[in-house]
Amino acid sequence: MQSNTRWNNNLAFLLAATGSAVGLGNIWGFPYKAGENGGGLFVLLYIFFVILLGLPVFMAEVAIGKIGKKDPVSAMINTAEKTNSTKNWRVVGYLGILSNLFIGGYYAVIAGLVINYGFISASGFIGKDPTVIYDTEISSFLEMTFWFLLFLALTGFVLARGIEKGIESSMRILMPTLFFLIILMVGYGAYRGDMSAALSYLFSWKAEQFSAATMQAAIGQAFFSLSIGMGTLMAFGYYMPKEQKVPGASSIVVTADTSVALLAGLAIFPLVFAFPFLDPNAGTELVFKTMSTAFAELGAIGQFVGPLFYLLLAVAALSSMISILEPSVLWVQERMPTTRTRATFIVIAICIILCLISVSGFNVLKDFKVGSLENPFEMMKYIADDFLLLLGGTGISAFVGWRLSKIIDLEKLGFKSKLLFSAWIFILRWVSPLFLMVIWVLGNLERIFFIKFF
Ligand code: TRP
Repeated sequence: MQSNTRWNNNLAFLLAATGSAVGLGNIWGFPYKAGENGGGLFVLLYIFFVILLGLPVFMAEVAIGKIGKKDPVSAMINTAEKTNSTKNWRVVGYLGILSNLFIGGYYAVIAGLVINYGFISASGFIGKDPTVIYDTEISSFLEMTFWFLLFLALTGFVLARGIEKGIESSMRILMPTLFFLIILMVGYGAYRGDMSAALSYLFSWKAEQFSAATMQAAIGQAFFSLSIGMGTLMAFGYYMPKEQKVPGASSIVVTADTSVALLAGLAIFPLVFAFPFLDPNAGTELVFKTMSTAFAELGAIGQFVGPLFYLLLAVAALSSMISILEPSVLWVQERMPTTRTRATFIVIAICIILCLISVSGFNVLKDFKVGSLENPFEMMKYIADDFLLLLGGTGISAFVGWRLSKIIDLEKLGFKSKLLFSAWIFILRWVSPLFLMVIWVLGNLERIFFIKFF
């Protein structure tokens, strides 16, 4: 079945792509990674890699979608044909579909926990110990399953309604809500928390913590946060109105995404530092265990601020999750061909199975180790983020740099200067594939074979 749907206007692409980019990666991931990896140094490296590698590869992925049309696999085949390249480039599209499912297969589980925490924090913590709550919540396979199913039902509902009625119209509500909530949270943090401690934690220069691993973390985080590497941006580029400029639109999305990551740090850490017994280095549990303890300490007002914070996370997660599964839905829909609703059902069903595996990593199979990966949840996350996405990003970068660049019409894509265009192609050919492959190899050696160089 052909779906000739497009975004209604230029704003729709910006909203949807920002909705995709701003997600758990920004609010759940960025703050704790910045804290763990040397504060200001990590933040600066992150921004450096976002500009040097993230933005160029982001634009490359959007360009493939805009020129290739259709789902990621067909878009790769079409653009390969147009450039007389081998059709094997379609592997990049298939890798993308696979990444969709694997990312979706753990992302929804964390998002489910977020919704659960929204309700928990609304009911107040009086007389309860938030640390105990966390351990009880994650220990129940059934309860975690219930929450991720709820989240996937919401995602499926939007996806089934299609590009315009589903994604576009939900983003019109979700994005303003998200920006309102994050500003509110930063404001509250500044009013009630310790903003100067937060600023120094996030931005002070801890050079002694610098290592190759810091760089690896910064690059991985930049690509994940910008939604690069698995066809989301190809699909969104395909829906882009013809006259919309790729470099301009991409720069706006990248700036918005980076700003939200920084704001998330400024929303979270002031409250953490308001209570000296809270540990800012709580890693993945920061937004759950640590933040809920902070809300409990705030007393009655915490019962109000807590749910707003988890609503912010849930909104960010939902708009990203929609974009995570969109390429697969589009692919199934065109491949079968079938209706959008049926395609959505198929994709959600596969995602549910993968989510069940992830959930088991928190409880029933929490001691099931693979290499240095602690449990099935870590395994899913590793396959998606460290293995598939980086490969996808490399493929996209190399393909546009070496092949697609030959037929790109600067004007049509929206480049104003020939020099910028040449710099873009240079980065796509030489710089980003090299960086991505180096961190891919190092990461895999370390995670699977325990071989560590730095
Ligand atoms: N960028 C989102 C976040 O920060 C997650 C995400 C959505 C994503 N779509 C993606 C990551 C595509 C990689 C590829 O949470």
